[in-house]
Amino acid sequence: MRKIVIAGNWKMFKTQAETQEFLQGFLPYLDESPEGREVILCPPFTDLSLLSQSLHGSLIHLGAQNVHWEEYAAYTGEISGPMLTEIGVRFVIVGHSERRQYFGETDATVNLRVRAAQRFGLTPILCVGETKQQRDAGEAESVITLQLDKGLLDIDQNNLVIAYEPIWAIGTGDTCEATEANRIISLIRSKLSNPNVSIQYGGSVKPNNIDEIMAQPEIDGVLVGGASLEPESFARIVNFQSV
Ligand code: PGA
Repeated sequence: MRKIVIAGNWKMFKTQAETQEFLQGFLPYLDESPEGREVILCPPFTDLSLLSQSLHGSLIHLGAQNVHWEEYAAYTGEISGPMLTEIGVRFVIVGHSERRQYFGETDATVNLRVRAAQRFGLTPILCVGETKQQRDAGEAESVITLQLDKGLLDIDQNNLVIAYEPIWAIGTGDTCEATEANRIISLIRSKLSNPNVSIQYGGSVKPNNIDEIMAQPEIDGVLVGGASLEPESFARIVNFQSV
């Protein structure tokens, strides 16, 4: 059975004080959440410990935004799987386009991180997606296929979430048509050996488009940036109305 997985990617936003404030506003909304929705918050590293304590007993899972492939070593600025699992982190975003674009992540390092996540007991959320230029050139399918081929090398598809995030839709307000996202996600699913992998859509998901996105049969959840920073908007997304 494919699970519904809704994740908030806070990127480099929120101090601990702002995180506390968010929780106070957000947690009461979860009382209204329908059953069977997995909710994940992926804050900056400095908020993870605080959230881990504050979320104890709640239905929210914790996710990190990066993981290195070594257990410990001289890698300034990196973080390892055991450091994350020790404080209750269960998921980790890997291969986000901002990491690929600004921090030199390649399909090879993405694959190392996905494998490490699994080795250390985390569930990777592997992000794939094309640029506007690649889409306009008719290359979206081939780019995504290559990202999957390389990113999924030697990984266990029983412990995996995939996020389809067209880069041109991230942070732009320019959402991919729900039916088009559905088509690409169906293509991604056809490349997998495990039919039960949950596949999310990400890119300008907002309260006003979440119901339409989640009405698509192939879309199992969403990865949300900007709209996950405000309690009301993220709550509306988590509590989407099924049609
Ligand atoms: P956005 O970001 O919702 O702000 O477009 C999505 C993401 O980067 O995961």
